[in-house]
Amino acid sequence: MKFFVDTAEINDIKELNALGIVDGVTTNPSLIAKSGRDILEVTKEICSIVDGPVSAEVVALSADDMIAEGRKLAKIADNIAVKVPLTWDGLKACNVLTNEGHMVNVTLCFSANQALLAAKVGATFISPFIGRLDDLNLDGMELIADIRNMYDNYGYETQILAASIRSANHMSDCAAIGADVATAPPAVIKKMADHVLTEKGLEGFMKDVAKANIKIV
Ligand code: E4P
Repeated sequence: MKFFVDTAEINDIKELNALGIVDGVTTNPSLIAKSGRDILEVTKEICSIVDGPVSAEVVALSADDMIAEGRKLAKIADNIAVKVPLTWDGLKACNVLTNEGHMVNVTLCFSANQALLAAKVGATFISPFIGRLDDLNLDGMELIADIRNMYDNYGYETQILAASIRSANHMSDCAAIGADVATAPPAVIKKMADHVLTEKGLEGFMKDVAKANIKIV
């Protein structure tokens, strides 16, 4: 499963990228606003750090305006994936932009039918939001499984980009189901390394290191 980082914070992206685990980046208007930076400027910087797809979201609502914004965003770098919302206009924009050869990430997906439409219009990525469904007592992971099954039935090439990931367990659950990509905040990705038994085990080893004065370098 590919790991995308869901942030516009340059230092976090650099830290994780140096570890070789960043396959791409996703941003949205809220993350750009949080960074306090100009969208074109910060997106360009992210594209210069990461080789994989960098999702930059349009802010227009009509198809024509989304297409114009998408074309401008795509000029930033070759690895831009234009992010459009899963509305009827967003689907129209996706169709035009993919036919022009741009990568398109269709975002704010909350149902299997929406994901089916995104695949039909040739989206590169579909972004189902797990956490926001879970917040409503619905089952975000079930949606990922339904889309996986549906896409496999017909061989759709649209990649399932599991989004709105809130916990380390979401990451392993997505991998077990077969999501192509999972995008998560840096803190969630780091949390994947944690285990209470690892901490406890290391504590025991360190006591014995001190007792026996073990040195390597
Ligand atoms: C993904 O592309 C979205 O930017 C993101 O995952 C949304 O997550 P949230 O529901 O935690 O805001």
